[in-house]
Amino acid sequence: ELTRDFLYALPKCELHLHLEGTLEPELKLELAVRNGVDIGQSTVDEITATYQFDSLASFLGVYYPAMNVLVAEQDFYDLAMAYFTRAAANGVRHVEAFFDPQAHTSRGVAIDDVILGYSRAARDAAGLGVSAALILCFLRDFSAESALATLTSALPFAEHLVGVGLDSDERDNPPAKFAEVFALAREAGLKLTMHCDIDQVGSIENIRQVLEDIGVDRIDHGTNIVENPELVALAIERGVGFTTCPVSNSFVSADMKADEIVSLLAQGAKVMLNSDDPAYFGAYVADNYVALVEKAGLSPDDVVRLAKNSFEASWLSADEKLRYL
Ligand code: ADE
Ligand code: ZN
Repeated sequence: ELTRDFLYALPKCELHLHLEGTLEPELKLELAVRNGVDIGQSTVDEITATYQFDSLASFLGVYYPAMNVLVAEQDFYDLAMAYFTRAAANGVRHVEAFFDPQAHTSRGVAIDDVILGYSRAARDAAGLGVSAALILCFLRDFSAESALATLTSALPFAEHLVGVGLDSDERDNPPAKFAEVFALAREAGLKLTMHCDIDQVGSIENIRQVLEDIGVDRIDHGTNIVENPELVALAIERGVGFTTCPVSNSFVSADMKADEIVSLLAQGAKVMLNSDDPAYFGAYVADNYVALVEKAGLSPDDVVRLAKNSFEASWLSADEKLRYL
């Protein structure tokens, strides 16, 4: 009954997707040629051969240099439209997509070109039957001052943003480092989410911080919260969403985290499935549903619950959610 076709057609939201993580080898090559950027490879096969990872660090080591091909407003537009087209084919009706402005402004690209290119694509996604919103992510291995400067330069474009997030290397970069910038973002009317995913003993402290000190609306990954029943209860009471990414997990931590995801689902947490960096991990969102169904033997009710959770944990208005639920 849970066929691949069903899982693709199932209406869903994608809430954990890095636009820069959707850069397929073909487009990377096209943009490299268009902008005259030397990327070190000259064929799609050569690029594909570099898309191999066994840790977050090895992934980020390919992910950031790839961005050199993104230069002009049109490049950001083309990248996002290519993703929205694939999302539509994966049953995605609504997406709240991350982007990493500091990975571009640190190379001399104007934040205006980044935000306006992505935002123009988000508007045009409506023509594909996909509504799209943007989440500005701060790079947590950059300073708090850099995050603050980034927020300040983005606030004139706040109408194009739904929230702020926090990504990149979590080690030694805890949520508390960004308490001030997240408080300011909230005052500006933006929603808050943070990646919480250190795959090691003690990372539960970061989850405690995002729930108790930062007061996030969602947690990206965060599946190791199952270690602490009190924190799970708090997250459920507040309706905090967990944007989990099974295939990404299987690359960066050699474990899909299926048991943790299924446990959160069974306890009533607002957990759903997402693709994270699909061009690099080889699976768009529907294939994440396929992978977890296969691994965990989910029932049709489980799958429908995951898809419903994706709408409930989204930042659509109550009226907009009613259209889908
Ligand atoms: N930036 C893009 N993808 C990421 C991931 N999976 N974890 C942390 N930062 C990221
Ligand atoms: Zn992510």
